[in-house]
This record gives sequence, C-alpha cells and structure tokens, in this order.
Amino acid sequence: MRPTIIAGNWKMNPSLTEASHLIKSLTQSHIPTTTQVIIIPPFTHLSMIHTQLQNSTISLGAQTLSQHKNGAYTGEISASILQEIGCQYVLIGHSERRQYHNENNTVLNQKVHQALNHQLTPIYCVGETLEERKSNQTLNIIKTQLTEGLAQVSAKKPPNTPIIIAYEPVWAIGTGQVASPEQAEEVHHYIREELKTLIGTENANHCPILYGGSVKPNNSESLFQQPNIDGGLIGGASLNSKDFSEIINSSISINQHQ
Ligand code: PGA
Repeated sequence: MRPTIIAGNWKMNPSLTEASHLIKSLTQSHIPTTTQVIIIPPFTHLSMIHTQLQNSTISLGAQTLSQHKNGAYTGEISASILQEIGCQYVLIGHSERRQYHNENNTVLNQKVHQALNHQLTPIYCVGETLEERKSNQTLNIIKTQLTEGLAQVSAKKPPNTPIIIAYEPVWAIGTGQVASPEQAEEVHHYIREELKTLIGTENANHCPILYGGSVKPNNSESLFQQPNIDGGLIGGASLNSKDFSEIINSSISINQHQ
C-alpha cells in the first residue's frame, strides 16, 4: 500500500492575505483520511501557514532548496532552515527550475541529498518536453533524469528511502493540455520499473508517483484510477479552493486500486 498524496504547488502566487484565506477554506473542507495533502507555497508564506496548519493533517512543503548545506549563498534557502520552519517535503527539479534556473540533474542530485540529510522528503520531478515526446525520446529522458537525479540515493538510506516522484510532462504544465490517463500510466509504470533498479524493488513498490500537468476536477479521477498513479501535483487548480477540494476528494479512487 502506497500513500495517496495530493500536493498543491502554488508557485509565485498568491499574496499572504490570499494564502491565509485559501488555507482557511482548505482546513474547513473535507479531506479523505487516507489522503495526505501537502501545500507548497512561496518561502515567505511558510511560517504563517505552518502556524495556520497546527491542528490540521495538511503538511507543508517548499518549492526548492539550496544544494549547499549553509554558507555564503545569498538568496538561497537551506534544507535545515526549511526543516526548522516546519517543512516535511521539498520539490526538486520542477521543470520551471530546470528551464529558467538551469538546474541540471547533477545539481538536482545534490539537492536530493541535502533534503534526505535533513529528513525532508524530496518530491523529485521528471518530465519530457513536447519535442522530446514527438521524437520518441520520452522514456530515455525520464531514465536519465531518474538515474542522474537519484544517484547514490539507495547507497545512503536503504531501506525505506522516503522519496516521492512527480511525473510532469512539460507540455502539460499550465497549458490545459493534460496527458491522457494511458499516456501518463505508460510513463508511471516505466518509472516504477526504473526505480526498482535504482532504489530496490521494495522501496520502488512503496514510492508514491504523482502525476502533474493541467490536473483539474474534470480529469483527476480518470488519472487517479490508473494503477501506478498515486496522486497529483497540482498547480493552477490548487489556487482555487473549490477545485482543489474536488481534486482532493477524487483521490478516493486511488485507494480502490491499491
Ligand atoms: P498545472 O501545474 O497544474 O498548473 O499544470 C502543475 C505544476 O507545475 O506542478
């Protein structure tokens, strides 16, 4: 049995006031007891939201972290700072970080190790661009991202390596062009098989693999019914409390296939 996870990646939204309202409505809405909800706000909102979530089952994550432990790295945030402020999870390798901040698999691997060293669960993101899909490179790209990004992970923390993978096809992020359940499942299944080699069969079978990219209330259930889809990483729809709550509640269908 794998954890069912719905994570809301707020990116560079919303304002502090809007964030507070969003959290308030989320904590008042119904959440299936079997679903772990994670909110991933901008750094500046973490402290306030951590306080707001005191009596809630919702967890907190950050959108990135430094590959360095500490020191003279102006503007960076370390794993230990995130842990201290109440984060349990951290996104690593989101395509916007890969694309706009030139984060390559080597740097991302350092970030994964920083997270694991400080008891933060990495949500490691992989995904192909439209050109790569069109030229049949999808599975090769995913394999490289996994192999390089997760290098030395199994050597460090076996067994029970706490890690989450998010498959986010770049062409589906923020475009309204969601992957079909079959397209997503093909890659999720492939990721699970690759993970068996990288972190061992037991860890791979327990590793949640989330789908992200234009997940909305009208498509979440059919995605979540796929055998290797264990939840979602939600961008735009996580900024609307009604939509996000509907997606969270559709995650009930995940438990039925596990
Ligand atoms: P989206 O973003 O749901 O707005 O497509 C997903 C993500 O980038 O994590």
